Amino acid sequence: MLSIFKTADTQTLQEIAEEMRLRKTKHLILLFSMGSQFDHLIVQQLARLGVYCLVADPATVRADDIRKLNPAGIIVSGGPASVHNEPPPFDAAIFDIGIPLLGVCLGFQMWAKHVGAKVTPHDAREFGTHTMRISGSDPLFDGVKDGTNVLQTHGDAIEPGSAIETLGATENAPVAAGRYKHLWGVQFHPEVTETAEGARMYENFCFKICGITDRFPAHNASERKIAELREQVGNKKVLIALSGGSDSSVVAYLLKEALRGERGKLLGVYIRGIDRPDDEAYVRKYFDNQDWITVEIVDATERFLSALRGKTNMREKRLAMRDVYKDVLEEKIKSFGADFVAQGTLYTDLRESGLGHATGARVAEIKVHHNIGITFSVPELRPLEDCVKDSARGIGRDIGVPEDLLVRHPFPGPGLVVRIEGEVTSETLRTARAIDGIYIEELRKADLYKTVWQAGAVVTASRQTGSKGDDASMGHVVALWAVWSVNGFTARFAQLPYDFLDRVSRRITNEIREVGAVVYRISDKPPATIEWG
Ligand code: XMP
Repeated sequence: MLSIFKTADTQTLQEIAEEMRLRKTKHLILLFSMGSQFDHLIVQQLARLGVYCLVADPATVRADDIRKLNPAGIIVSGGPASVHNEPPPFDAAIFDIGIPLLGVCLGFQMWAKHVGAKVTPHDAREFGTHTMRISGSDPLFDGVKDGTNVLQTHGDAIEPGSAIETLGATENAPVAAGRYKHLWGVQFHPEVTETAEGARMYENFCFKICGITDRFPAHNASERKIAELREQVGNKKVLIALSGGSDSSVVAYLLKEALRGERGKLLGVYIRGIDRPDDEAYVRKYFDNQDWITVEIVDATERFLSALRGKTNMREKRLAMRDVYKDVLEEKIKSFGADFVAQGTLYTDLRESGLGHATGARVAEIKVHHNIGITFSVPELRPLEDCVKDSARGIGRDIGVPEDLLVRHPFPGPGLVVRIEGEVTSETLRTARAIDGIYIEELRKADLYKTVWQAGAVVTASRQTGSKGDDASMGHVVALWAVWSVNGFTARFAQLPYDFLDRVSRRITNEIREVGAVVYRISDKPPATIEWG
C-alpha cells in the first residue's frame, strides 16, 4: 500500500529525505486525504507535474509535525464528512502555520469555518458540471479562462461576506473559490477531467504559489512494477485470474516479464458463468498456446446460479458471487501449487470498496468489489492497485499487451450479476448475455465502440406490457447505458445518436422474446455510478 505520513519522527523524516534524494527534488506537497473518492487523482495530477506528493493522515499529524517536515505546500482534500455534524479529525492549528494551503471542497469548508466564515448546508446540493466566473487575478487561476467548467459535488456552501476574498463563483456557489492570506480554497474538484482546466490550477498552485522549482523526471512505471514483482515472486509459481479484459491482461504480461517467461510458472484461470458473450474467446485468442502461461477454463455457471438463488439485493449478490470466485481460485491454487495469486485490482476498485490510502479518514463504501476483501491461502499480488484505468492501459502499452485487449471496455468482476436486477436465474443470465451481445455488436458496427469508455445493458426488474403478435405478455424493461470517461472516477453519459439507439432497441425487442421495452440512461457519475448495481 502507499506509504502515509503519520508523524514526524526521526525515522520517517529520514525515509522522506531518502525518497526526495531519489526523486532529485527538494520540495514536496503534503496531501491530507480526507476520504474523497478523488484524492488519488490529486496524487496522479501532481505525479504528472513531476511533483512529489506525500499523503498525510489527518487523524495523527499535528502542526508540529508539519513544522518539522516543512513541505512547500499543503492540500486538504474533500471527503464524505461535513463541518456541521461530523467534523473530520484534523489539527486546525495547521491552518495557522503560514505554509500555502489549498482546500478542496470539504478542505475549503474546514479552513473557511476556522477563519470565521459562515458555512451552511445548501438548499441546492451541487452535483455536476458548472460554469465558473472568475474574479480578480489570483495566481491560482493564471491562464484559466473566465467561464471555465468545474465539477462540484458538495452539499455545504461558504457564505459570502466574510474576510475571504472571492476568486470564483458558480450559479449555486457564490464562493466557489476563495483566498484568505496563505489559504486558497475551491468548492469543486480540479483533479477530475470534468474540471476542464483543473490540471492548470494544480500546476499554478505548485509552481506559482508554493514556489516549487524542480520537477523530477517521470520514472518508468512498468519497469518499476516488473522489478517489484520480480523481488516478490522470485521464481515461484503464480496463479492469475484472467477475465479477457485489460487489467488482468496487463498483470499477466507484467508477470511474464517478472518471471522471465519461464515455462510452468504462471497459470491463468478463466471462470465461465457470469461473463460477457465474447470474454472467453479473447482469453483463448491471446493466452492459449503461449509458452509463458498455461490457461485453464473453469465452468462455474451452476455454482454461481446456486449461490445466487433467491438473492435479490445487489450487495448480497455481489458477496455471493465473490464467494464462488474465491472458492474456484482456491481450488486452482491448490491443484497448481501456486505460491501467489495475482489480480487486476485497480485503485478505483479499492476506493469504492471503502479502502485506499490508509489514513484515518472515513471513506464511504460505495460497492463491494468482487476482488477486494478476500483472504486467500497464499499472498496476493495487486501490481495495479495504485493505477486507474488509463494509467493501467499506459503500462500495458509500454510492455506490449495487444491493443485489442487494452481497448476493450472495462467489465466489472461480478460480471452480469450487477447487470441483472432481482434474482439471477439461467433465464435472466441468458437475456443479459444476449442484450450485451447485440448492443456491443451494434456499437462496433456503427464505429461507436471506441468513442465510448464503457457501455452496458441491464435487465431491470421492471416489466412492460408487451404487444408482440397476439401474445400480450409482460417483458423485461432493458436499460442501456454508455459513458464517456477517462478513469471511471467520474463519467458523463454518452450522447449516442437516436438512429443508433432505435436500431439497437428494435433488434433487442425483435430478437429476444423476454424483453418488453428498451430505455437509455442519461445520468452522469456522480451522482449515479457507472454500473447499475
Ligand atoms: P462504478 O459502477 O462503481 O464503476 O461507477 C466504476 C468502474 O468499476 C467497474 N466496477 C467493478 N470492477 N469489480 C470490478 O472489477 C467490481 O465489483 C466492480 N464494480 C464496478 C465498473 O464496470 C466501472 O468500469
